[in-house]
Amino acid sequence: MSNMYDWADYYDLTQRGLNGDVEYYMDQAKQAGGKVLELGCGTGRITLPLAQAGIPVTGLDLSQTMLDRAKAKAEELGVADSVRLLQGDMRSFDLGETYSLIMIPFRSFLHLLHIQEQMKALACIRKHLAPGGKFAMNVFVPKIQHFNEENEKMSLRGTHRMENGDEVAMWDYTRYDHFQQLAEVTRIYERSNAAGVMTERVTGRFTLRYIFPTELHHLLRLNGFKVTQRYGSFAKTAFDASSSELILVAEAL
Ligand SMILES: C[S@@+](CC[C@H](N)C(=O)[O-])C[C@H]1O[C@@H](n2cnc3c(N)ncnc32)[C@H](O)[C@@H]1O
Repeated sequence: MSNMYDWADYYDLTQRGLNGDVEYYMDQAKQAGGKVLELGCGTGRITLPLAQAGIPVTGLDLSQTMLDRAKAKAEELGVADSVRLLQGDMRSFDLGETYSLIMIPFRSFLHLLHIQEQMKALACIRKHLAPGGKFAMNVFVPKIQHFNEENEKMSLRGTHRMENGDEVAMWDYTRYDHFQQLAEVTRIYERSNAAGVMTERVTGRFTLRYIFPTELHHLLRLNGFKVTQRYGSFAKTAFDASSSELILVAEAL
């Protein structure tokens, strides 16, 4: 079984992000008005539009497969020379420069599975923030009822049509460990041709540590940040009991 991010083509086909997230981070980057660093940039879904808009952006990711795909897309879009794509770990990076905005979109912070790892990442982020710089991120809001519905079940997340007409179905099997706040996801991509015959089936795995909103506030505070903006959607609606996403901007204390 491989890591889910070994399947960068299927990632791009099936992961289109959250409603309005690219526009939101673009706006944050423009307001920051300086260099931007995306941690967990993946295939460049957000990094590359920023580069296209002329924003000086660096993307860092653990997965070379995802970065290779980001590089190929950067070349296709003609921004390969203006974007910096680096293999690295958000828990331990030292880039020798500071940024007006450091961002972790699309819940990538949840890939850090222990509090010590989260704290290491936050220490690195703080070190790389320019004076007055901002740290922007988003995570999903854990819902107990949703956990109960999903636990140890196979769920069809969607079907997606490839350019050659093949169809890819994406299935998740999730097992929760509520003591450790972990969601262990086995993700299966099933590819079928126009005749409906399955031609490929790949399985990847990833684990997330879900984080409660108050916990995240405490974590940021403990690591030298204060939350300066908080939203429940990328249209900047207020965060409240009905919100399924927590979107935060923090600054050094
Ligand atoms: C959900 S994807 C998000 C990709 C991209 N930001 C987007 O919005 O499409 C999470 C990414 O985080 C990366 N990642 C996971 N752990 C990481 C770490 N410790 N340091 C850097 N990147 C990491 C994965 O390789 C993957 O590309």
